[in-house]
Amino acid sequence: MCGIFGYVNFLVDKTRGEIVDTLIDGLQKLEYRGYDSAGIAIDGDKKGETLIVKTAGKVKALKDKLDNSNIERSTIFDSHVGIAHTRWATHGQPMESNCHPHRSDPEAEFVVVHNGIITNYRELKTLLVSKGYKFESETDTECIAKLFKHIYDTNLKANIEVDFNELVKQVLYELEGSYGLLVKSSHYPGEAVGTRKGSPLLVGVKTEKKLKVDFVDVEFPEQNQEVPVGSAKNGELNGFIPLSGAEASLRTSQSRAFLADDGLPMPAEFFFSSDPASVVQHTKKVLYLEDDDIAHVYDGELHIHRAKKNAGDSTTRPIQTLEMELNEIMKGPYTHFMQKEIFEQPDSTFNTMRGRIDFENHQINLGGLKAFLPAIRRSRRIIMIACGTSYHSCLATRSIFEELNEIPVTVELASDFLDRRSPVFRDDTCVFVSQSGETADSILALQYCLERGALSVGIVNSVGSSMSRQTHCGVHINAGPEIGVASTKAYTSQYIALVMFALSLSNDSISQQQRHREIIDGLQKIPEQIKTVLKLENKIKTLCTEHLNDQRSLLLLGRGYQFATALEGALKIKEISYMHSEGVLAGELKHGVLALVDDKLPIIAFATRDSLFPKVLNAINQVVSRDGRPIVICDEGDTVLSSSQTTATLHVPTTVDCLQGLLNVIPLQLMSYWLAVNRGIDVDFPRNLAKSVTVE
Ligand code: UD1
Ligand code: M6R
Repeated sequence: MCGIFGYVNFLVDKTRGEIVDTLIDGLQKLEYRGYDSAGIAIDGDKKGETLIVKTAGKVKALKDKLDNSNIERSTIFDSHVGIAHTRWATHGQPMESNCHPHRSDPEAEFVVVHNGIITNYRELKTLLVSKGYKFESETDTECIAKLFKHIYDTNLKANIEVDFNELVKQVLYELEGSYGLLVKSSHYPGEAVGTRKGSPLLVGVKTEKKLKVDFVDVEFPEQNQEVPVGSAKNGELNGFIPLSGAEASLRTSQSRAFLADDGLPMPAEFFFSSDPASVVQHTKKVLYLEDDDIAHVYDGELHIHRAKKNAGDSTTRPIQTLEMELNEIMKGPYTHFMQKEIFEQPDSTFNTMRGRIDFENHQINLGGLKAFLPAIRRSRRIIMIACGTSYHSCLATRSIFEELNEIPVTVELASDFLDRRSPVFRDDTCVFVSQSGETADSILALQYCLERGALSVGIVNSVGSSMSRQTHCGVHINAGPEIGVASTKAYTSQYIALVMFALSLSNDSISQQQRHREIIDGLQKIPEQIKTVLKLENKIKTLCTEHLNDQRSLLLLGRGYQFATALEGALKIKEISYMHSEGVLAGELKHGVLALVDDKLPIIAFATRDSLFPKVLNAINQVVSRDGRPIVICDEGDTVLSSSQTTATLHVPTTVDCLQGLLNVIPLQLMSYWLAVNRGIDVDFPRNLAKSVTVE
């Protein structure tokens, strides 16, 4: 969804052109999250001048606009702060005036980029308008920029010279809602401040010399410096100005990590971002901000401040090393990220299992769950909660949880679960499944369950994401970054992680040993079997061209384990090719859907042989006797229907029943991809959708 990128160079000479290129490149790495406009703010030639360039549309359009502007590229800056943003509209249409960065005033004394939603922006706006501020956009964000100036000026009038991070604290006291925020100001040249609450933000650090320590101390205020909370609802901002000038401007510490041997400042570069994907090419050293942290970069140092000290607050933030490689987020030989990710599945599924399954001894060891397994086994029920594709991976694995463990399992869509305010108890285990770990509905559901004392388990791809950090324990699915909006490799890896979870829970059961061995042997073969299914690409491509391209609607029939596959296949087709498609439980056909069947409606039927095969065959025959000519997905060597009764048959290798969905979903991923390509759709960025849905 929205993306933040910021670049600070200190004692490292860069031309303005190089700075602009770094910002644009950073935004391009965020494109996969989905957005509708983009913008940057950099220093101008005159002292205190800030240039803002923004546009609705793609980052490429912003780049063209910059290239065609008369902005001088050769000017050299030895210290500079540039901020940039990709926006996904929430308040106000995607148009230039609503794009970020937003400014405090025509001189752009303060410029901000923001992810999230300020819920009290109306009250703030009313107040600021009454003070004479002229708003230029419909966004909630603009009130933040104006608020910075208003509070800065009020301090100034009171002769208080306030430090940038103190100013941020005073502004934050007035804000309600969620934010990832990055601020630049002509009053604080060379300084940048970033902060977050409920929206991710990290800082990448690049220095020539090794840092002294791999953490940054958290700086807390003295008790008498804490700022009382105020609110614009009172009709006045009253949450600030408690400091005397001397206290406010005091810079008390030097960051231990950045101490140089000779006592002189070190050349350094800093990269603020809402996503490590845009930082990894510059540096692997990153610090993830926690909610309410204020990261203040000045004089080549990174400081972390907090407005308040609570008992138990951690006093340091680690500087971690990113394990993600740049080539992991590039397309390689593929045309689209989605295609690359579909073809990565032999590797990504292997990586999910790597180091966790001892295939020889049929043992599973999930490091992140081990200590929690006894507590989970004691729970009264397991509630799996997720959205979209992640929800389908829960549906696909629910029955293996139920089969192996005698614990009731329910599967919930996060939004519906919250709407119902479903009862949750201390003896429940709530499993949150998410690729991004940042999906707002799932995070809200997680917070809801945490408040009620349930044990929370995350099955998450993004290490360091909000969900991975806020759950009690969990499993990283290790599928590597997924960039295409359509989730493909995350689905198969989530599926495997959940199966491994179900197996770990029932590790002790003697009666299940044979079944365990069978499933573990099956898992071992999955990566190779996926390779075999991927060979169907050309056949599927032809099938799309000859039979499906011009269709308006499609039904997918599945039963048992394959119901989830039908739903997931239908979602893929909908979101990428914009063709209406519906996953139908084969047993429900006769209860209404059969009325749609004729010789024209395309139908895909999952007919791999598990215990429910006879019932699926029954449904398929009902379709055929109404002149339907389904595309049948069945086991290698099987002939479910004669060729005259089908449009096509796609053969997939056979595996254990509870794993068959891992193979059966792949033809559908390929089909959705080729339908979209044939229709000229921007596969990685389908309309109206974002990769990471960080709004409710
Ligand atoms: C961990 C390391 C991995 C290393 C392996 C060696 C990390 C991220 N992983 O993998 O690099 O090779 O040990 O033994 O450092 N967690 C949550 N919620 C989630 C996901 C995970 O709380 O949604 C927690 C887990 O409980 C665990 C930690 O995060 O404490 C790491 O989880 P995971 O990466 O799955 O653990 P390992 O596979 O042991
Ligand atoms: O990041 P998450 O797994 O929490 O995202 C959940 C859904 O938004 C996501 O799976 C969505 O349905 C995909 N675009 C489907 O391909």
